[in-house]
Amino acid sequence: MSILKIARMGHPVLSLKAEPVAKIESVDIQALVLDMHETMHDAGGAGLAAPQVHVPLRIIVFQDPLCQEAEEKNSSSVLTLINPKLEILDSEYQYGMEACLSLPGLAGEVPRAKRIGYSGITHEGTIIEREAEGFHARVVQHEYDHLDGILYPMRMEDLSTLAFSSELSRISQN
Ligand code: NI
Repeated sequence: MSILKIARMGHPVLSLKAEPVAKIESVDIQALVLDMHETMHDAGGAGLAAPQVHVPLRIIVFQDPLCQEAEEKNSSSVLTLINPKLEILDSEYQYGMEACLSLPGLAGEVPRAKRIGYSGITHEGTIIEREAEGFHARVVQHEYDHLDGILYPMRMEDLSTLAFSSELSRISQN
């Protein structure tokens, strides 16, 4: 396994519409998924999408809240979704701060649907179908957006909330 370089805002790969994965069981895809797990852990992210590691394919990985009790952050606490589908179940929006490994150091307030359904296939071939709310729903919507070339600032309604995280922590300490 290896840690991959993360594309930052402005790299063209982040603006593409990613392509579906044709052969999940292929050696290349299996290796990519494991590298994405390792890269996400190394960077301390809640999720990662393949375009963020310069691969325009429809693959996302994220911390799995069903494994939150796992003491060690090993690969079993990360869910991989290949060719995911997303459905808005409650169009009421909630506002929350988001950050992204492709915009290091920044955070901003983003409206996201409160409740979603999502589905996809893991790299091990398991079919996943779930509903999610709150923070987890936010993470999945954020990662899914990467597959359509959307970064969170494009979803923001109030750009005055875009800030450097280090300045935000300064405020909360006062
Ligand atoms: Ni992101």
